[in-house]
Amino acid sequence: GPQFEVDRRGRHLRDLRISVTDRCNFRCVYCMPKEIFGRDYAFLERDELLTFEEIARLARAAARGGVQKIRLTGGEPLLRRGIETLIAMLAEIRTPQGAPLDIALTTNGSALAVKAEALKAAGLDRVTVSIDSLDEQTFQSMNDVAFPLARVLDGLEAAHQAGLGPIKVNMVVKKGLNDHDIVPMARYFKNTPYVLRFIEYMDVGSTNGWRLDDVVTADEIITRISAEMPLEPLDPSASGETASRWGYRDGIGEIGVIASVTKAFCSTCTRARISTEGQLFTCLFADAGYDLRALLRAHCTDDELDGALRGIWSNRADNYSEQRSNLTPGTRRKIEMSYIGG
Ligand code: GTP
Ligand code: 5AD
Ligand code: SF4
Ligand code: SF4
Repeated sequence: GPQFEVDRRGRHLRDLRISVTDRCNFRCVYCMPKEIFGRDYAFLERDELLTFEEIARLARAAARGGVQKIRLTGGEPLLRRGIETLIAMLAEIRTPQGAPLDIALTTNGSALAVKAEALKAAGLDRVTVSIDSLDEQTFQSMNDVAFPLARVLDGLEAAHQAGLGPIKVNMVVKKGLNDHDIVPMARYFKNTPYVLRFIEYMDVGSTNGWRLDDVVTADEIITRISAEMPLEPLDPSASGETASRWGYRDGIGEIGVIASVTKAFCSTCTRARISTEGQLFTCLFADAGYDLRALLRAHCTDDELDGALRGIWSNRADNYSEQRSNLTPGTRRKIEMSYIGG
């Protein structure tokens, strides 16, 4: 069939993460620190971004190659003007088997109260909302633009009402900053329709000053929550998932832990990423991408596009998180998360 063969580590292409803007209205300290992403930071110009037509064309090619899930990211994807139009275009795509794609979006939630209904109407299936703390001061100091927590919680509720679920909530844990919120977050979300996922702080990019000491490990997170609300491991819901699942022993609720640092999940990684300007990256930590925009703007045929993607995927051997501990910190050039898309 048209589906691509496995890569050099036996992995299929299944998920495509597309960054639709490198801009964000937050300045999360672990992602876009203010000192770097300041007033005169050079974000991409409009004509450098992939157009919606270009994104949809790449998504159609990816679907021919085996992609079943698309996740829109950024930056903050809801800042991209007309994002509903793009979602509607993606919602029309069918796999070679005739199925629609699963279309998800990862957002900071700041615009969800306003946009949830329109996103759903356009064909978005679900959202994941980042919330790093339930403590107003900690929340505002982590987004570093004093954005109020209540507006994000309103957005979460609006997304739920609009039917953009099942909804996941992402909490990046950074030691000394918000790790005191681990248990309160777990307690708060336990009896809600939202699945909270704790994320080990990762060494993406080179501007966030990452140190291994800043990581609170998955084991530590589980131990701390279990001390108050006992947990037991659950089976993975889908192969290639980033999160390992845990259920509360009282039968009410579950959480996830994304342990890219202490329990790498590269062996089942079926993800490719397209950056805001149309570079294809086969790993979150890749040091270089493939310029698909150049190919598109040179008026390639669909066969040429499929051939290029197939070639890139079959050559893929990335497993950065499995190698991390053998690498000398700071020696490898890495792409910023706001550009490549989380
Ligand atoms: P689901 O498919 O709904 O489970 O979403 P997801 O976990 O793939 O996406 P999300 O945008 O919620 O990302 C959660 C965290 O996992 C973020 O910190 C991502 O950067 C991280 N993440 C996602 N995919 C990968 C990956 O392939 N490798 C690594 N190292 N981290 C990833
Ligand atoms: N480590 C782990 N997760 C991160 N995110 C952003 N930067 C980092 C990092 N350095 C998260 C965001 C969002 C998701 C796409 O990635 O909070 O939830
Ligand atoms: Fe923006 Fe998300 Fe990065 Fe925070 S983590 S600065 S919300 S892109
Ligand atoms: Fe996939 Fe790279 Fe993340 Fe490993 S580090 S799971 S290969 S994106």
